[in-house]
Amino acid sequence: MKKVVALLLLLCMNPVFAESVSQAEADKAKWKKECGSCHVAFPPRLLAAESWQSLMENLNKHFGSNAELPAKDTQQILAYLKRQAGGKGLYSASTLRISDTPWFKREHGVIAAKEWTHAEVKSRSNCESCHGATVLED
Ligand code: HEC
Ligand code: HEC
Repeated sequence: MKKVVALLLLLCMNPVFAESVSQAEADKAKWKKECGSCHVAFPPRLLAAESWQSLMENLNKHFGSNAELPAKDTQQILAYLKRQAGGKGLYSASTLRISDTPWFKREHGVIAAKEWTHAEVKSRSNCESCHGATVLED
């Protein structure tokens, strides 16, 4: 009897599990497509959940751009970002920029001021100019 119950449980739970996995993959794919079109898709782990939340609530005023999305897409992307987000403190920034977090400043302390303004870099947000696009894959 125990075996039958276990088997039934297994049969019932598997589709649920499969569904949540494919939902998570769908969320990630949506993020990659929508948030990687103007710049690299910045790694979710480099910003705290609270910051991602504020950023996603203000996509119509996004660092001087309008990056607004349908509400359903916004929710889907935010769910993914929150699951992968970094911890409060080290990954929090008043301006919502990864490049303004304590983590970023510490990690990039070795870089001289003139390197940030180098013609091929121009902006701290231009991660791929120094790292290449693949280094930032999550
Ligand atoms: C319409 C173009 C566009 C789209 C789409 C877009 N962004 Fe941006 N994003 C920008 C611009 C422009 C900046 C400012 C870049 C700079 O200062 O050099 C920026 C900056 C950022 C930054 C700050 C980078 C730093 O310096 O740390 C984050 C984080 C960010 N975007 C996340 C997102 C997310 C998440 C999405 C998807 C929901 C998204 N962006 C979609 C245009 C866009
Ligand atoms: C001017 C060049 C430059 C820019 C622009 C830059 N970085 Fe870096 N980054 C470095 C250097 C140099 C280091 C420290 C050396 C190292 O550990 O690779 C570093 C370290 C890192 C690290 C830790 C080490 C690693 O490779 O995992 C991460 C993650 C990172 N940067 C992400 C980013 C992100 C995200 C952005 C954009 C928001 C960015 N960087 C912009 C040069 C840059």
